[in-house]
Amino acid sequence: MSRSRRAWIGTSWKMNKTRAEAVAYLAELREWSGTSSLDVDVAIFPPFTALATAAAQLTPARRAPSADRPGPSLHLGAQNMHWQANGAQTGEISVTMLLDCGVSIVELGHYERRQHYGETDYSVNLKASAAITAGLQTVICVGDSEQDRQYAVAPEVVARQVKVAARGIPSHALASVVLAYEPAWAIGTGGQQAEPAEVEAIHRVIRTALRQSHGPQGAERVRVVYGGSVDAASADRYATQTTVDGLFVGRSGLTATGLIGVIEEFCAAAPDAASELVFLEGSAHDSC
Ligand code: PGA
Repeated sequence: MSRSRRAWIGTSWKMNKTRAEAVAYLAELREWSGTSSLDVDVAIFPPFTALATAAAQLTPARRAPSADRPGPSLHLGAQNMHWQANGAQTGEISVTMLLDCGVSIVELGHYERRQHYGETDYSVNLKASAAITAGLQTVICVGDSEQDRQYAVAPEVVARQVKVAARGIPSHALASVVLAYEPAWAIGTGGQQAEPAEVEAIHRVIRTALRQSHGPQGAERVRVVYGGSVDAASADRYATQTTVDGLFVGRSGLTATGLIGVIEEFCAAAPDAASELVFLEGSAHDSC
């Protein structure tokens, strides 16, 4: 069975890297993307302090993928934003500021933000709506906790997160949404590796929830990616699942070599994901 959506691989640097480190990393990634013919969207999420520097690094590489010149497109992402355009929100960053830094995609609702910084399904929804209205793509992270898994309620938990986060987003705009399944129990140094069949089952739950909220056409537009701990050695295990449109990686993407390894392994194991171009609406292909 082949996929109808273009592969998407992202990495969040979380609270890592200075501007100089960002420059070195992106130079290596740019060099690779200039020679690779993999048709894959690659999104890098540096810390806020490195966004403008990263944008300058990625600008020379910007080009749209095309049938005669296939290759990876590089996108610059931010790890969070506030839903208001401006105002008295100490320590927060608005969508206008992200656009001003050259950002094209924003990550919302990561488990670490839900767990430690009070992010809720409702705040994720407010942020997603504001981002999409402003023309940003979004990566919306959802996932079950260890306890949800023990009590066998992961499907309900994840379906609820998806429905609340996507509420009010117009169906046509779902092409600029990536849904990342990030089980809390698989993230970080103590995490357990999720079995591909488990991932496949929850990805089906996500797609069903989207069908219920936005109808079949809208649901088909969303890329659903897996975001537990994945590295180059495990990427192919998930790539062979037809419900997995890509990966959102953490530690393994902290070096350009590590990220490139994940991309190449994923695309090699899922050739259909890398061979069928789907041009997305809105800003989705402002490729680098
Ligand atoms: P990790 O992070 O790969 O470092 O476990 C995964 C994530 O947060 O998406």
